[in-house]
Amino acid sequence: MTVDVLLGLQWGDEGKGKIVDVLTRKYDIIARFQGGPNAGHTLEFDGIKHVLHTIPSGIFHAGIKNLIGNGVVIDPVIFQKEITALKEHKVDVKAALLISRKAHLILPTHRMLDAASEAAKGKNKIGSTLKGIGPTYMDKTGRNGLRVGDIELTDFEERYNTLKGKHEQLLSHYDFDYKADLAKMEEEWYAAVDAMREMTLIDSEHFLHQALAEGKKILAEGAQGSLLDIDFGSYPFVTSSTTTCAGSCTGLGIAPNKINKVFGIFKAYCTRVGSGPFPTELFDNTGEELRAKGHEFGATTGRPRRCGWLDIPALKYAVAVNGVTNLIMMKADVLSGFDSIKVCTHYRYQGELIEHLPYSIDENLIEPVYEEVKGWQADLTGLDNLEDAPQELKDYIKYVEDKIGVPISILSVGPNRTQTIQLEELAI
Ligand code: IMP
Repeated sequence: MTVDVLLGLQWGDEGKGKIVDVLTRKYDIIARFQGGPNAGHTLEFDGIKHVLHTIPSGIFHAGIKNLIGNGVVIDPVIFQKEITALKEHKVDVKAALLISRKAHLILPTHRMLDAASEAAKGKNKIGSTLKGIGPTYMDKTGRNGLRVGDIELTDFEERYNTLKGKHEQLLSHYDFDYKADLAKMEEEWYAAVDAMREMTLIDSEHFLHQALAEGKKILAEGAQGSLLDIDFGSYPFVTSSTTTCAGSCTGLGIAPNKINKVFGIFKAYCTRVGSGPFPTELFDNTGEELRAKGHEFGATTGRPRRCGWLDIPALKYAVAVNGVTNLIMMKADVLSGFDSIKVCTHYRYQGELIEHLPYSIDENLIEPVYEEVKGWQADLTGLDNLEDAPQELKDYIKYVEDKIGVPISILSVGPNRTQTIQLEELAI
C-alpha cells in the first residue's frame, strides 16, 4: 500500500489539524513527520476546541494508530500536558499513540538558547515560538542531540548532563539570565520524561514498513507550512525542519516511491505569524477585517497573525516543491462580504513581471501585481454542497484551479469538522 501526505502550502496555520481529523477514518495510521510544539493543530467538534502541538490529529478516532515520527522534536513537558488534556476528554492516548525512539528531545536549555538567540538578534529576530525548536534541530544535525530512545538507557542522566553542560557554555556567551528558572524547569522535565517511559516507544520506520507490507493506509501529517521550510522557505525567517513533502520521507523513513497523494492545504487568503517577508500583506482595514473575521491569532502563542491576499506565485512554488496532487482550500467563509477579492498573480521584480518566486521575496525587491475577482456576500458557514454556493465562490475556486493547474478536492467553510465539503471523489 501507499502513503498519502498532507501538508501546508503557505506560512503554516492553514488548518491541517482539522482536515487530518476529517480524513482520519479513511486511514489506519496517522503519522506526524516533523516540527514540534511550535505547531498548534486546532480541531473543533461537539462544541469543543482542541489544540494539539505534538500529538497527531487522528487521536480523537478510536482504533486508529497515531505515530510521532523520528523527524519530530518533543518537549516532554508540553507533550505531557497534551496527554492530560486528552485524558480529560476520555481519549485513550496510551492505546492510540506510538512514539519513535529516534525523535529528538527538547531540553529546558534548548528553550533558553532559543530565547537567548532571539533576544540577541534584536530587530532581526525570527519571531520564533520560543519552544526550543531551532536549537534542538541544531543539536540533531550537530550530532549532539538526545533522542527518545535514550530515556530507556541506564546512562540517560549522564547524557542529559553532558548536553546541558554544552548548552550552559553557549548560554554564558549571551547576556541572558538562564539560571533563575532552570532547576524548576528541569524538575518538571524529568517528571515528564518518567511519564514518557510509560508510553509505547517504538522503532517506527520498521513499524511503518510492516504496516505497508500488510496493506495498511497511512496519512503523513505535516506541521508549519512550505514557505517556512528550512530549504525552500523565506530563509532565514523559517523554521528548522523540512516542512515539505521530502520531510515525510526523512521524518518517517518512508521511501519516495511509496507516496501516492499529496494533499496541499491553503487558506483562501494568506497569513503569516512571526517576522519575515510577506509580499501580499495588508496593512489597512481589509487586513484587520481578515484577522477579525478569520480569528487570526496564533494557536500556540496567541500572537496576532499578519493577513493578506492569496499569493499565486508562492502557491505555485509550494505545489511544485511538494508535488501536490490535490488542493484543499480553507476558510472560504472568511472571504464572504467583500465586494471584490484581490489575488496576486505576478510580482514586479527588478523592473520585470515574473510569475515565479525569486531568491529573495523581500518587500524592497518585489511588488505584488493583483487581479481582482468579484466577491460574494452570502454566509458560507452553513453550506454543505457546492451546488448551493454563490456563483462568485464557484468562480473563485475555478479561477484558482486554473492558475495552479491542480484540482481543489476539499473546501472548508468553518472551523468545525462538519463544515467541510468534498468537491470530488478522493479514492483513498
Ligand atoms: P520556530 O519554529 O518556533 O523557531 O519559529 C520560526 C518561525 O516559524 C516563526 O516565524 C514562527 O512564527 C513560525 N512558525 C513556527 N511554527 C509555526 C506554526 O505552526 N504555524 C505558523 N507559524 C509557525
